[in-house]
Amino acid sequence: MMTKFIFLAGFSLALCHFGWSSELICYFTNWSQYRPGVGKYMPENVDPHLCTHLIYAFSAINPVNELITSESNDETLYKSFNGLKEKNPSLKTLLAVGGWTFGSEQFSIMVSSPANRTTFIQSSITFLRKHGFDGLDLDWEYPGSRGSPPEDKQRFTLLCKELLEAYEADSAATGRPRLMLTAAVAAFKGTIDEAYEISEIAKYLDFINVMTYDFYGSFENFTRHNSPLYDGSGYPGGNIYYNTVRRPYILLYS
Ligand SMILES: *[C@@H]1O[C@H](CO)[C@@H](O)[C@H](O)[C@H]1NC(C)=O
Ligand SMILES: *[C@@H]1O[C@H](CO)[C@@H](O)[C@H](O)[C@H]1NC(C)=O
Ligand SMILES: *[C@@H]1O[C@H](CO)[C@@H](O)[C@H](O)[C@H]1NC(C)=O
Repeated sequence: MMTKFIFLAGFSLALCHFGWSSELICYFTNWSQYRPGVGKYMPENVDPHLCTHLIYAFSAINPVNELITSESNDETLYKSFNGLKEKNPSLKTLLAVGGWTFGSEQFSIMVSSPANRTTFIQSSITFLRKHGFDGLDLDWEYPGSRGSPPEDKQRFTLLCKELLEAYEADSAATGRPRLMLTAAVAAFKGTIDEAYEISEIAKYLDFINVMTYDFYGSFENFTRHNSPLYDGSGYPGGNIYYNTVRRPYILLYS
């Protein structure tokens, strides 16, 4: 429950992640439409010139391993979301699949066999093309955690590899720009170690969003920055790994 709150808080800030380049990645959430009063936030409220990439969170995976919508009006919102590209033709849009609430179970089933992965991969091409997205953002929280077995670490790598190969094949066959492939990944050391073959997945992903927020929060009895840039292990409750910059995982960005 606590962790659920953490996740929602992080994403509902419509936060943006910076990479090294001039790319600015922003998320739009399917639940911001339900905020009361002036908090209500729709795709048409998004400034199409603020970010280089917009990611729609979240879509889901059905019991037969296909990429699907999660809210009844998602298809309507996809339309206005992707319509933002008419106002800014260099804007790229991606669809995120998964999220904290969605969990690990259906991801584990989907990656468990080559046939299941192929079903998902092919359905993602059809779905993304149909709705006018430029790519897919994998938000599996997390391989190797929350009911996902240890071997999912390697299977996640396979999924990334096979997705990229299929997107390249689709591009070659259709002459359209290749669909992008990205991932939102854990920021806690223990979760990272269980989830990712970092140097492998880095070969297949166009960029990686590290969820470097909610290192600290209201669940502790001291106050610290929610998303510290640097090591604050000298402070009460500080942990050398709970920061964005000063830790080995910076390699994720390279
Ligand atoms: C948004 O997407 C998630 C999928 O992670 C889904 O579980 C949820 O029901 C959707 N809607 C809301 C209002 O959160
Ligand atoms: C593949 O997907 C099907 C349908 O969801 C599921 O029943 C099966 O357990 C999955 N894994 C394998 C190895 O077939
Ligand atoms: C809160 O502070 C007390 C007193 O220092 C300590 O015993 C306790 O373990 C702390 N709880 C948490 C969740 O950090």
